[in-house]
Amino acid sequence: MSYSKDVINKVIEENDILEIVSEYISLKRSGKDYKGLCPFHHEKTPSFNVSQEKQLYHCFGCHASGNVITFVMNIENLSFKEAVEFLADKAGILIEEENLSGEEYKRKKIRDEIYSINRLAALYYHRSLYSKIGQAALRYLYDRGIDDKTIKKFGLGYSPVNGDDLVKYFVGQKYNIDTVYNAGLILKNDSGKYFDRFRNRVMFPIIDEKNNVIGFGGRVMDNGKPKYLNTSETPVFKKGKTLYGINYAKKTKDDKFIIVEGYMDTIALHQSGIDSAVASLGTALTIEQGKLIKKYKNNVVISYDADEAGVEATLRGLNILDELNLNVSILTVPNGKDPDEFVRKEGFDAFTRLLENTETLIEYKIKKYKQNLDLNNPTERIKYIKKVCQDLSSIKDKVKRDVYVSIVAKDAQIPESTIRTEIDRFVKGFKQNNEKIRYTVGNNRHNIKYGSVKKIPSLKYLIALLLIDNKLYNRIKSKIDFNDIDDELLRPVITFIVERLEDGKETNVNDVSFMLDNAKLKNEFNDIFDILYNGKEINEKIVDDCIKEIVKDNLNRKISRIKKEIDESYISGDIEQERKLLTQLQNFEKEMLMLKNG
Ligand code: UTP
Ligand code: MN
Repeated sequence: MSYSKDVINKVIEENDILEIVSEYISLKRSGKDYKGLCPFHHEKTPSFNVSQEKQLYHCFGCHASGNVITFVMNIENLSFKEAVEFLADKAGILIEEENLSGEEYKRKKIRDEIYSINRLAALYYHRSLYSKIGQAALRYLYDRGIDDKTIKKFGLGYSPVNGDDLVKYFVGQKYNIDTVYNAGLILKNDSGKYFDRFRNRVMFPIIDEKNNVIGFGGRVMDNGKPKYLNTSETPVFKKGKTLYGINYAKKTKDDKFIIVEGYMDTIALHQSGIDSAVASLGTALTIEQGKLIKKYKNNVVISYDADEAGVEATLRGLNILDELNLNVSILTVPNGKDPDEFVRKEGFDAFTRLLENTETLIEYKIKKYKQNLDLNNPTERIKYIKKVCQDLSSIKDKVKRDVYVSIVAKDAQIPESTIRTEIDRFVKGFKQNNEKIRYTVGNNRHNIKYGSVKKIPSLKYLIALLLIDNKLYNRIKSKIDFNDIDDELLRPVITFIVERLEDGKETNVNDVSFMLDNAKLKNEFNDIFDILYNGKEINEKIVDDCIKEIVKDNLNRKISRIKKEIDESYISGDIEQERKLLTQLQNFEKEMLMLKNG
């Protein structure tokens, strides 16, 4: 656990969910609640609801539910602890480091230490670049068109060839070498001797949005392999979590980011005056990177290499960004060049012209389908039509949609009306999924998928009911032995609530929100928030159904346990014990029968 329950409670109470959500999406009043486009899935008609009264949100499309903490965790891509800090900051609540548990405090210290080591290393590499040993590296950068100003701006450097210069430097600075090792800057050989990870490479420090140096990429200056060596995973560097250049791009006045593949593409674009470029470093754009973009911009242009890997990556990236509700378009650099080569040769104006002629997601997809499918072949033609229609069904603007309908009709040589009918089928399917759901109690082992009826496991249901109405506890407490509950994840939740109620304290969902720190529980809580949001009236039947399912569950477990014990006493010949257990078994079975019948 990171922060105390009180701190977490206060953070929830002092951040109005309506205000926080409104910073990300526009909400309109709808009855008692507020409505907008869901930020967690792609949609064209609003099904995301916020209740100021309940301080919860719920999406009827994708069923995301939660409170202000889960909202910030999901939309800002933060851990529980980071979300608490983020919200505390907004509400002006000071959370002292004493509020961090010992473990947390240690982890933060380690991270801070790595940041300062990385910063020192970056300075060291940078100095080396401008010293005698860095002459070849500096020439390499000049040859690639990078000037001194840009080198300084991006803190580029050179890692010496000797193999242990960095080790010596840090030892000279009286640094604990193990910490430098933790920063991923040095390696250890079999005999325990430390040596530099990066040797004879041009160094690119990777800097995050808070200006921390989190890692490095190092490029060979010849055809050696790997072309780029990156920092391995460390407590501060996780591949796919950051975007290279974000420290500068976040300040751009442009209304969009341009995502490119590599270090050099980013640097070349910035040098030419396009300050909105970031790199995903490698080809696969991740959902975390998508969320990072969304934090700053709603528009994004992807400009990956036009080679096969680049196209694949573009399509995957597009889907990720589209699902996050970002407006994506695609810039294809002509003649198979990458953005670095293009902008260096053709300059700022030429690149800006490319930016004015980007393709929309749909155009790009249609183009790619056409390239990969043979429209003269009937089977492939059908595939083409279905794929395109599904894509088109998500376009709400009728005019826009019609334009594509006529294009596709020509391509596929079928009437426009057929295409419209096909699109309608997809639209209807989408609407059906959007229907309101009914809840029924299910047992704890069968969690039925979302449809128009949703079975909520009884224990989760009961937790939600108790949080809605504490008084229900009186109806429940004599009937369930909470320590008997088998569910390892949810048992601590229900016992926490029960303990509070036993102490005569009122309890609501804020009190248990500290448990969202556990990623698995956070998932379970989605259903709980869902019921809290939608549960209108609680009737006794639901409560009793929950109790019954839980008692049945507990009883079933007792029965199978006792059956095992009976077998054991039979084997060991303990007739006395066996008889005693049999009587118990009969009682349990009678109980079960009664439960099932009544
Ligand atoms: P590319 O191979 O397209 O390189 O990889 P590039 O950016 O055009 O490199 P230059 O122009 O030859 O210097 C794109 C990105 O993929 C990552 C790097 O982030 C690189 O910028 N990559 C590539 C690696 O991490 N390791 C590699 O070995 C190669
Ligand atoms: Mn390149």
